[in-house]
Amino acid sequence: MSTKGPIGIFDSGYGGLTVLKEIVKKLPQYDYVYFGDNARAPYGTRSFDTVYHYTLQCVKWFFTQSCPLVILACNTASAKALRTIQQNDLPGIAPDNRVLGVIRPTTERIGEFTKTGKVGVLGTKGTVQSQSYLIEIEKLYPQLEVYQQACPMWVPLIENREYEEDGADYFVQKYLQSLLDQSADIDTILLACTHYPLLQDKIQGFLTKQITVVSQGNIVAESLSNYLLRHPEIEERCLKSGNLSFYTTDSNEDFDINGSIFFGKRVNSIHVDLG
Ligand code: DGL
Repeated sequence: MSTKGPIGIFDSGYGGLTVLKEIVKKLPQYDYVYFGDNARAPYGTRSFDTVYHYTLQCVKWFFTQSCPLVILACNTASAKALRTIQQNDLPGIAPDNRVLGVIRPTTERIGEFTKTGKVGVLGTKGTVQSQSYLIEIEKLYPQLEVYQQACPMWVPLIENREYEEDGADYFVQKYLQSLLDQSADIDTILLACTHYPLLQDKIQGFLTKQITVVSQGNIVAESLSNYLLRHPEIEERCLKSGNLSFYTTDSNEDFDINGSIFFGKRVNSIHVDLG
């Protein structure tokens, strides 16, 4: 009989807190442990190999916390590490545990938002280069046309709390324009990076009302809820005391200040040294 534990939520830094916030709203009964690899963020500009090794190391850490289920609330890690971890690593290190990502649940829902059939995807360089969204959307909605744009300056602006300043407008407009230049008929823009919801108001402000901006928090929360219903063998191993804990590989003082902005509530984190 496997032990019970919290659901693990992972991101390279603070972005996954925008997902955790929606998950806790939808499923407050469970225990969650959030882990941000802030010391090594951003992941978005790193190679496949590096993102895979960092993510695997963090997934193993979650297993030391008895998590039966880990959500990679990071598109970059989902794009570059998830499949290898699921197929090559998990069977050897923890065959009864599960690791899920954010790309598949988002892809399953994206077709609901567009009328023109033209969808824009904004993400980190790593997510865009992986072509994960192009590949996954093609499988589920072959009729859709997908346009991508990498936004390498957005995560640094957000992590450095510059995202509300006027200076951020330049980079917000620049990448939106590059995306919209690819097709004038894009009516749905997916924020395929869990950091980007902090820029959502600014992004929406530069777009016409005809364009829907989709963020992932709700979508991932609903998908997790369905997953737990369909997988009682995992669900019954999830602790249900409504506890939340936060861990970071960098300074816990910084995490508490910045993390509270992403999470919308005060967070108290603990520093972890991965060695
Ligand atoms: N939040 C991560 C994502 O969803 C990216 C941040 C980073 O570059 O580390 O892709």
